[in-house]
Amino acid sequence: STDDNLTVNFINRHGETLKATAKEGESLLEVVIRHHLNIDGFGACEGTLACSTCHLIFDPKHFDQLGPISDEEMDMLDLAFGLTDTSRLGCQICMSKAIDGMTVHVPKDVADARGETVGQQSQ
Ligand code: FES
Repeated sequence: STDDNLTVNFINRHGETLKATAKEGESLLEVVIRHHLNIDGFGACEGTLACSTCHLIFDPKHFDQLGPISDEEMDMLDLAFGLTDTSRLGCQICMSKAIDGMTVHVPKDVADARGETVGQQSQ
């Protein structure tokens, strides 16, 4: 549709780049679901801040453009595997013009708060 005028690229757990269109204000989890992007185990709690499977790693220049992080997101992010200085939870990040065209990395391994592990294990 005409308001689908932003783009975002996800590099999935297999190293493939998945390009998607997005609307202003749409969360990255909503983008993944709407386009049925192939990201194993992503968004297990459907954006209710009860998992960390939507962990994404941002480029520093985009990370600085993201909205503020809540205590709830911080607590959940602490449980994510492979946490980095530019990690956030995708269900809490909304698309905006400032981050239009960005590329985000899906970490290789995830473990959600329920102790299940999905995705590839490190070799
Ligand atoms: Fe579970 Fe984001 S989808 S915290």
